[in-house]
Amino acid sequence: MGFVRFDTEGAVGIVTIDRPKALNALNSEVLAELDACFDSIDTNTIRAVILTGEGDKSFVAGADIGEMSKLSPAEGEAFGKKGNDVFRKIETFPVPVIAAVNGFALGGGCEIAMSCDIRICSDNAMFGQPEVGLGITPGFGGTQRLARIVGVGMAKQLIYTARNIKADEAFRIGLVNAVYSPEELMPAAKKMAATIAQNAPIAVRACKKAINEGLDAKMDDAIVIEEKLFGSCFETHDQIEGMNAFLEKRKEKNFTNS
Ligand code: CAA
Repeated sequence: MGFVRFDTEGAVGIVTIDRPKALNALNSEVLAELDACFDSIDTNTIRAVILTGEGDKSFVAGADIGEMSKLSPAEGEAFGKKGNDVFRKIETFPVPVIAAVNGFALGGGCEIAMSCDIRICSDNAMFGQPEVGLGITPGFGGTQRLARIVGVGMAKQLIYTARNIKADEAFRIGLVNAVYSPEELMPAAKKMAATIAQNAPIAVRACKKAINEGLDAKMDDAIVIEEKLFGSCFETHDQIEGMNAFLEKRKEKNFTNS
């Protein structure tokens, strides 16, 4: 792949968007490569994924404005679907995905970060949905996910004003969970991913599914989603191993994702 790299460190996968000359902007090729990259990840061995951008300036500076500038309404809609399909794949990916936001996360960059489970960033990061300044709406899920993450009022303010915000403000409004120096960002992301990876994968996946699917349901239905996933953990190898380790006062646990 020319624009997306995949590396592994133990049970942690690292997806890097690698188009630094265009500040990692998402054109159709990058989107197709991202799609193929997530399809190719072996979730039997990879237990957490980190998504980041190449270079020290930009995570993703948005969808590719050059490509979008010539689109018809139907082509615009199709381009939106292309991005939405990939981002939904990330959002529903079986294992957690952490966005390590290392600079600009504008438009499609903010949107791809929001499709991840957890966002952390460097102190030079900048977030925003500048689309209305370009004469379009956010098109890769921004109108939907920003409101769900930071609340309707703040999302409307950010989207209508097209104002970019720095890392400290993103932290204050709950768009990111933590801010690090650029040097500390990837070590922190790897540490978090490794911590997730050492827990029972079967349970971590069920938690992701329960939280995601529950948020789209009424509370009466949402708690049933949880009950079923909770029940599905019992009599698995990992549940027996996890509970035996506790009862035997054993620190070492051999989780097998089964
Ligand atoms: N699309 C295409 N190319 C982009 C790009 C984008 N979103 N963002 C940056 N680039 C390119 C620039 O054109 C430039 O290329 P050249 O060197 O060939 O001229 C290169 O990356 C470096 O960019 P700048 O020279 O502009 O760098 P800067 O440091 O002066 O500014 C920036 C950085 C503030 C991020 C500025 O590049 C910028 O404003 N980019 C656009 C951000 C934006 O509006 N993103 C939203 C896009 S719309 C969207 O994403 C819709 C959606 O929801 C699907």
